[in-house]
Amino acid sequence: MEKKIIIAIDGHSSTGKSTVAKQLAKALGYIYVDTGAMYRAVTLYAMRKCFINDSHFNQEAIERYLPFINIKFKLNKKTGIAEVLLNNENVENEIRKLSVSNNVSQIAAISLVRQKLVQQQKLMGAERGIVMDGRDIGTVVFPDAELKIFMTATAKDRAERRYKEITERGEQVSYEDVLKNVVNRDHIDSTRKDSPLRKADDAITIDNSNMTLDEQFQKILELAKQAASTK
Ligand code: DC
Repeated sequence: MEKKIIIAIDGHSSTGKSTVAKQLAKALGYIYVDTGAMYRAVTLYAMRKCFINDSHFNQEAIERYLPFINIKFKLNKKTGIAEVLLNNENVENEIRKLSVSNNVSQIAAISLVRQKLVQQQKLMGAERGIVMDGRDIGTVVFPDAELKIFMTATAKDRAERRYKEITERGEQVSYEDVLKNVVNRDHIDSTRKDSPLRKADDAITIDNSNMTLDEQFQKILELAKQAASTK
């Protein structure tokens, strides 16, 4: 593929967006950015400062501390995965915990948080040649992306995948709690006022409930090749 394009992959929680996006970026020699990791890192910061927990949410404090939150990615040369750094600390494992998942949608609904992260994301894609996944990439971050994918699957399928992933990492959780988190995040992410999760008009929907990872990868790779040659 001669021409470098932007590939925006949006969709519901736990649809496996990042797995296929990573594979795609590798095959194309593109940069991969997991924007969910950025919202998760801000959430971890807010949790550590006790600005958010099960019963308490101090939006004003989170907004006030935003200038002190620095998020960067650093390539792990062994795995080839870009890991997220929160104020220079590698928090890649911690941000994947269910406790962070349970708070992240509230943090992602704060407009000032979104402004800060979206600005950073736009810069990362300024030279194109990027695969970015999230919830608002095709609608807000890169409305001019050459290829937009909207991934979805049934809540049950997504919860089963996420449950497997979390327990394989050794965290003790129940399937019911994971399902509850998936459904709850869908609701908050799609109904928030600022940049709600929605399919861009020109996005291609992929329901991967009954697709293997390789089938998804091949399909998106084909679409990427078409997009790079026609636009
Ligand atoms: O992709 P993920 O599950 O790691 O994302 C975590 C949360 O971050 C998700 O519930 C909503 C939010 N998010 C967002 O609002 N906008 C993005 N571009 C990416 C994630």
